Amino acid sequence: MKLILKDKIESTNSEALLIDDKQEFCIIAKEQISGKGRYGRIWSSPAGNLYASIKLNVSGLQECCKYSFLTAVAISMSLEEFCLKPQCKWPNDVLVDGKKISGILLQTDGKNKLVVGIGVNIRPFTEKTDFLYSTSSLAEFGIEIMPIDLFNMILNKFIFLRDFAFCSIVNEWKKRAVGLGQKIEVHLENKILTGIFSGIDDNGILLLDNDGIISKITAGDVFFGQKE
Ligand code: BTN
Repeated sequence: MKLILKDKIESTNSEALLIDDKQEFCIIAKEQISGKGRYGRIWSSPAGNLYASIKLNVSGLQECCKYSFLTAVAISMSLEEFCLKPQCKWPNDVLVDGKKISGILLQTDGKNKLVVGIGVNIRPFTEKTDFLYSTSSLAEFGIEIMPIDLFNMILNKFIFLRDFAFCSIVNEWKKRAVGLGQKIEVHLENKILTGIFSGIDDNGILLLDNDGIISKITAGDVFFGQKE
């Protein structure tokens, strides 16, 4: 897959969405001026961390959903090579020691292009990357790696996992899932739901069991017990 290397740009996701190319490609930047998180949040992006986006040709929504889980598994598998024990947090975060080390942002062009944005904290931050959750970085575990080398590890796994069916990907994700079978809080835009995180359905939707009543959650911030 073609790889575009940039020094400092607004956001690898925004840039990838702008580039009109029939072929799939990746873009990686040393720094982002306005890195984007989910729900329009800011993703602090100083030099030294991984900021990358992969632009894919997809057939529809179901496939987009597969990439949310697939990317978290690819990142987790890469971190496992450093003997870390990453956990996948619905919908698309990766944690180590209960703290967020990586975030994924999926954006579409509304048609058949999907941009998968990947941020991984390599350096320790004085500034937080995400104000909702505690964060960690590879440096905290004594791991030093160039962002490009980490990206190549993730991309290899990403490409390998693409051939697998959605259910196999979700099974890999579940093996690493945090909070599955436990009581969780889901913060939606205007309310908070509580219940047991009982599973993921065929569309990647979180199933929340509140005394036998199942709510299907398509988006939200998940907290375990107390707010992290
Ligand atoms: C989140 O957890 O809220 C998602 C964070 C995604 C950050 C990455 S960094 C590379 C890519 N470009 C962006 O602007 N955002 C994603």
